[in-house]
Formats: sequence, C-alpha cells, structure tokens
Amino acid sequence: MSVKHIITLRNRQGMQIKLSDWGATWLSCVVPIAEEKRELLLGCQTFEQYQQQDAYLGATIGRYANRIANAEIDIAGKHYQLTANQGVNQLHGGKLGFDKQLWKIESQSEQQVIFSLISPDGDQGYPGELKVAASYTLTDDNQVIIEYHANTTKCTPVNLTNHAYFNLDGETNNVLGHSLKVNANYYLPVDANGIPSNDLLNVTEDDMDLRQLRLLSDNLFGSSARKITGGYDHAYLLDSSKPVAAQLVSSDKKVTMNLTTSYPALQVYTGNFLTHTPNRHNGVYANFAGVALEAQFLPDSPHHPTWPQSSCFLEPGQTYLQQICYQFCIN
Ligand code: GAL
Repeated sequence: MSVKHIITLRNRQGMQIKLSDWGATWLSCVVPIAEEKRELLLGCQTFEQYQQQDAYLGATIGRYANRIANAEIDIAGKHYQLTANQGVNQLHGGKLGFDKQLWKIESQSEQQVIFSLISPDGDQGYPGELKVAASYTLTDDNQVIIEYHANTTKCTPVNLTNHAYFNLDGETNNVLGHSLKVNANYYLPVDANGIPSNDLLNVTEDDMDLRQLRLLSDNLFGSSARKITGGYDHAYLLDSSKPVAAQLVSSDKKVTMNLTTSYPALQVYTGNFLTHTPNRHNGVYANFAGVALEAQFLPDSPHHPTWPQSSCFLEPGQTYLQQICYQFCIN
C-alpha cells in the first residue's frame, strides 16, 4: 500500500488549504468569515472514498484534461491509440490518469507545496516520457496559485488542470443560487457524450452568455445546449483582453472568487452527475452540489488545430508552463 500524505498550507489571514500527493489533489479550502470557518471545496472524508468516486474531486487532471474523441490522435503521420474510459472516448487522461497517481512531494513550506510526476513513454497510449510539476501556493491575499510545468521526450498533447468543485456557501445548499460571470464571447456546443458537435458559437446562441454575473439557476434547462448536458458542461473560449477569466459569487454574497489563468479556455461544469459522490459528512452529494471551473485548452483540441488558441502539443525542448489563480474575497 502506498502511503498518502496530507499537506496543510496557511496564510496570515487565517485561510487554510489542504492537499494530498495522491493525484496532487486539492482537498480542502477553509476561509474565516467573522467567527465562521467556511469550507469552500467539495471533498470526501477518507482516501478510500476519494479512490472510489469518479467526479475527480479536487484532482490534478492529465495528461490531457477533458475529452479526446475516439481516444486516438495522429502526430506527424503516426497513429496513437489512447486508453478509452468513457465509451470510445478518453476523458481526463484515461483509465489511470494523473488523478490516480501518487505524486512525489518535491518541496514543502508553510505556504507552498510542489508535487512532481513522471509519466512514462506510452502512458495511457501517449507518446513520450512527460515530466510534470504542479505547485500550489497560498498567498497572504487569499490567492491559491497553481502552476504546471512539463517537459517531454516526444511530441505529445498536454492539458493539465485542477478539478476542484466550489461551493462558496459552505455546502449549506447547492450552487444554483451562486452567480457566475465568464469573460468569453464564444463557447463550444457538445453532443450528449461531451464531444464538440460544431465549431465555436457566439455565446448569444442558445442562451449561453455569462458575460454579466448570472444566477446558475437562471433558465438552466431552458437552453437546448444545456438540456443535452443536464446543466452547464461547456468550454468557453476566454476573452484574453479581460484580466479576470471568471467570477463566482456565493448565494449569501459573502464570498467572491476571481479566477485568472494563462489558459485559453474554461470548462464550466455545474456538477450535473455528482449524485452518489461521497461527501465529508457520512453522506453523499446531490447533483449541483458544487461547480467546477476548469481552466484548460478547448476539449478535443488535438483534432482541431485551426481553433483560435495556442497549440496543445508540447515538443521536446519546449517547457509547458501554465497558471491558474483563484482569489477568495470576503465581503
Ligand atoms: C468534467 C466534465 C464532465 C464530467 C466531469 C467528471 O470536467 O466536463 O462532463 O465528466 O468532469 O465527472
């Protein structure tokens, strides 16, 4: 049995986050609000439960976040069959993605931890040995900054993200009373399997516009795009001229989270299939218990080289470097 560790980071505001080397997972995020200590992340009670659930709670996702259609890619005329783990498609890096690996703790201090992982050549079908580092830093102004570095020995697609689910009310209710803003003019329509079904569409199509703060419950099932996925489960192409990618506000308006990122896109997923996922309190979550805001490349990007974003392929000699920052503001 491999030994798993829990690492706690603390800042001068009394904020505290917990992480684990298993999946380089973000386990907990507690902020003080007057006398209250509020947990802002969904999570399980035990490691066994983390290993059983398939919601990817707080995990680091890799080698390739989101879906790759038919679990296959072609690179420089060579065909690679990847492990399929959702029908014929690959989701979140395959059967044994980075979320299910025990990472090495490279360094650890009061406000930072760095995890590393070596993904061998052929891992889940991907070419090249990929060396990855994921660092979590908690700053004194309540920012959680995640940075990913990677290098490869052969050209491979790379799309690393974190799969935290937020409930800024402290799990007193589902997140449908939260308001969300996403600075994006385009989104990707998907089919019932989450595979892009068309090219990028303007957010005004099918009522997918989140450019102003909007209640998640607002017309949730009224849009044909959201009906297919049972809620939001869509990638938005971020407007890079806007400094903040997304803003999430709790139902009671006491907590605002601002998300900034170097990534071109953001997957908005309202926890449409969360039901039965074990929670921290001897029970299970219901659908919509949390919302995941996953900064990443657009889904299935290896098959769509003409989409307006930088390439998701990493070449030998290049360094992959991406950042996601969540700042928690108490009102
Ligand atoms: C999300 C994805 C959802 C679902 C979830 C894991 O990133 O968009 O469709 O697969 O992960 O349960």
